[in-house]
Amino acid sequence: MTNDKKIPKKPTFLGTNCTPLSPGVMASYPQTRMRRNRQTDWSRRLIKESVLSCDDLIWPIFIKDGENESEDIVSLPGVQRHTIDRAVELAKEACSLGIPVIALFPMIPKYLRSADGSEAWNSDNLICRTTAAIKSAVPGIGILCDVALDPFTSHGHDGLIENGIIINDPTIDALIKQTLAQARAGCDIIAPSDMMDGRIGAIRRALDGEGFDGIQIMAYTAKYASAFYGPFREAVGSSKIFTGNKLTYQMDPANGDEALREAALDIAEGADMVMIKPGMPYLDIIWRIKQTFQMPTFAYQVSGEYAMLTVAAERGCFDGHKVKWESLISFKRAGANGILTYFALEIAKELNE
Ligand code: PBG
Repeated sequence: MTNDKKIPKKPTFLGTNCTPLSPGVMASYPQTRMRRNRQTDWSRRLIKESVLSCDDLIWPIFIKDGENESEDIVSLPGVQRHTIDRAVELAKEACSLGIPVIALFPMIPKYLRSADGSEAWNSDNLICRTTAAIKSAVPGIGILCDVALDPFTSHGHDGLIENGIIINDPTIDALIKQTLAQARAGCDIIAPSDMMDGRIGAIRRALDGEGFDGIQIMAYTAKYASAFYGPFREAVGSSKIFTGNKLTYQMDPANGDEALREAALDIAEGADMVMIKPGMPYLDIIWRIKQTFQMPTFAYQVSGEYAMLTVAAERGCFDGHKVKWESLISFKRAGANGILTYFALEIAKELNE
């Protein structure tokens, strides 16, 4: 026995019970032929809904110490670590191609890593030196610096550890020190990627307290505990050090509502932009966050996604060029304002051709 009668019937259309959206949707074959608009190249261009441009791109660069050197990263074919002088040249190239922002990630050798990650707030560390060098040589490009301790800790976690537990509030104190060191070096966007609670508000207050009220915060709002970060950990030298998991601070891939709560908190605490990470497996989260908050919203196409597409293309599984474009336009369609992607430089070159 059901109580069907009490449920008001939805209007039916063509035998289904979907709600008619607009006259365009209600029209039917043969008056309506969806293929009509797809007949010619000019028509397909005319009805295109999403567009990818250089303005959408954030390019991550891995930095290592030394001079005039670039070295391959085995797990990320085509991506290299560069010394500061090389990174400056690449930033010039990125800027001239119209890429708005580069993101810097350091390869910190073991001897500079420690349990508390204190190298992170050394004002002369690799990231601060790179930031200062790029800032003075390429003033027209935005510099985004990750705020998290993992490239600097001897254990590879993003937080401080006490009795085997990642402790939240003392970690925030460390993140503030790291933020201020990067701000003083000339960083434009602070991007906390550690998923500690309350860090956005604390970082905002610390920045404002030092007169850095113009520095933007891009919050890694919905960052999942993802195996897609594998190649990145090799790139920053964490893969051999890190043995555990990040489940007590990064999000469960099974959860979506929780991402909306994370976003609400980060926005209330002063985030200027929000980021969802990884990208392609989480398009639903990008869509929901954009629809709910209408914030500048960014997707992080992470190292494992890049590796997956690149290696499969190398194996001849598909056309690498086409899947690269398809993957990036899917982020725009889902509502992202921009994408942090290892493809940024090659895409910018293609867009400039
Ligand atoms: C550090 C950080 C990670 C990534 C960006 N910042 C790794 C992690 O959280 O373990 C991953 C980026 C990528 O895979 O491309 N907190």
